Amino acid sequence: MKDEIKKFAVLGHPISHSLSPQIHLLFAREFSINLGYEKFDTKQDDFLERIKSLKDEGYYGLNITLPLKFSAFQICDELSERSSLCKSVNTLTFLGKNIIGDSTDGRGLINDLSYKKIDIKGKNIFLVGSGGAANGAIYDLIQSKPKKIFLTNRTFTKAIEMKKYWKFFAEKNQVILETIDLDFSKKLYFDLIINATSSSLTTQHSPLQEHAFNCLNDEGACYDMMYGSQTPFMREAYKKTNSVYDGLGMLVEQAAVSFNIWHQLAPATENVRTALKNL
Ligand code: ATR
Repeated sequence: MKDEIKKFAVLGHPISHSLSPQIHLLFAREFSINLGYEKFDTKQDDFLERIKSLKDEGYYGLNITLPLKFSAFQICDELSERSSLCKSVNTLTFLGKNIIGDSTDGRGLINDLSYKKIDIKGKNIFLVGSGGAANGAIYDLIQSKPKKIFLTNRTFTKAIEMKKYWKFFAEKNQVILETIDLDFSKKLYFDLIINATSSSLTTQHSPLQEHAFNCLNDEGACYDMMYGSQTPFMREAYKKTNSVYDGLGMLVEQAAVSFNIWHQLAPATENVRTALKNL
């Protein structure tokens, strides 16, 4: 009997730029798995209907990207602790009648940092942004046991709310959370600055200015979760250090965790990173 092809897709809006199909097909090649992976442009209003029809059509799993990660979180019958706390789901699995949700963005970030040999245990992290991307990653940042995570946001009240929300989980993991203004003036020391804002989509200005980058330790690194082209944050960061990274590795690593959830196989990411850089 011929093996049935397992069907997957990524949903979001816009979606035409998504690299998820290429990534999953490259992973699948390593294990000679025959799978289908499509992308469907899906707006908020069409989300529930799309989920229902793909479930009925026998899709095995879906990746969910912006702006649907919270909606995906809301429709799950079962959630991992991580996605439940982050209130974000980027990986859905249809299991019988049930929809299982997980979030792999944070693990994608941590695995990419580890690939880049950036150790955050016991270190000071400056996390810029308090939206979906930051809240989706902080669970795994906290679990990696940095000493302290400084939180900031253009709308400062959101940084304060974020600290309040994650306080208990941070304390449980002996991690200190502290909020600081975007344009703080005191001298601080960071080992890693992460840009989790979407500012590069709308402006040519870096969300952080020179003073913040000057607080980076000599061995420190700067990481923008965005990928595609050099962002204003990255340009500003390069004035201080050469250890500046975009989020392409995070994209590949979060996909690898999704792949593992669906196929119980851990794909090698090195070749896929290279392939994407050459696209
Ligand atoms: P995402 O899911 O991509 O994080 P989001 O939840 O809308 O999207 O959050 C976007 C984040 O980028 C927010 O932290 C936002 O700051 P505000 O809360 O003040 O809106 C931040 N952001 C967007 N544009 C920015 C800019 N030009 N400068 C600084 N921060 C910006």
